[in-house]
Amino acid sequence: MNHENVEKNVGLMGVLIAVAIASGGLSQIIPLMFQAEAVEPIPGVKPYAALELAGREVYVREGCYNCHSQMIRTLRFETERYGHYSLAGESVYDRPFQWGSKRTGPDLARVGGRYSDDWQRAHLMNPRDVVPESNMPRYSWLADAPVDGAQITSYMTALKTIGDPYTDADIAGAAAAVEGKTEMDAVIAYLQGLGRHAPRLGAIGVGQAESAP
Ligand code: HEC
Repeated sequence: MNHENVEKNVGLMGVLIAVAIASGGLSQIIPLMFQAEAVEPIPGVKPYAALELAGREVYVREGCYNCHSQMIRTLRFETERYGHYSLAGESVYDRPFQWGSKRTGPDLARVGGRYSDDWQRAHLMNPRDVVPESNMPRYSWLADAPVDGAQITSYMTALKTIGDPYTDADIAGAAAAVEGKTEMDAVIAYLQGLGRHAPRLGAIGVGQAESAP
């Protein structure tokens, strides 16, 4: 088939263009599918404990991701402010992931342990009590909303079915772990766990020299 035939036959050209685009696209997309399967959790990262999982559900339901990302980029001004950049192995148990790119508020990937539980509670009850210039909405009703143990149990069972390594004991103990807890307790437990297993600056990739002033 010489080139002139292709140029003079628009139908044939259309088919060949489609084949070229499809093979180009597939050669980029297919390896990514396998790569995603191959991401291993980094050391220490485990599926969320029952209360944290309940808190994560509140976080997703309330749309906290509309103002907060959980994805520290590999840029110096990001790592200086937040800590080690985010690694794929940190979010293997995040379904759906909360990376995001909208930052009305700060990134939360490393917020665990930055404040006390009391601060987090006061902040969620009314952000302006602790940060006067804040425009974050208040979430005070979470303090009156109980966590549903049966729902968390079936959620963990579903996650196990799709591969999260929960043990039978984890699932059997889930309802007891959230007994008497409110959604406020749950979201605080979730926030305090964020970034817990992140490498320290200098541990992987970001060298001391790079993070020195
Ligand atoms: C309308 C945007 C908006 C929404 C929605 C929002 N936030 Fe915020 N958040 C902010 C802003 C702005 C700040 C910075 C000022 C402050 O600390 O209140 C902030 C700060 C924070 C901080 C402190 C972070 C730090 O490093 O100082 C936490 C924790 C937090 N938000 C959690 C949440 C959670 C949990 C939700 C959902 C229940 C949520 N936010 C929803 C805007 C928002």
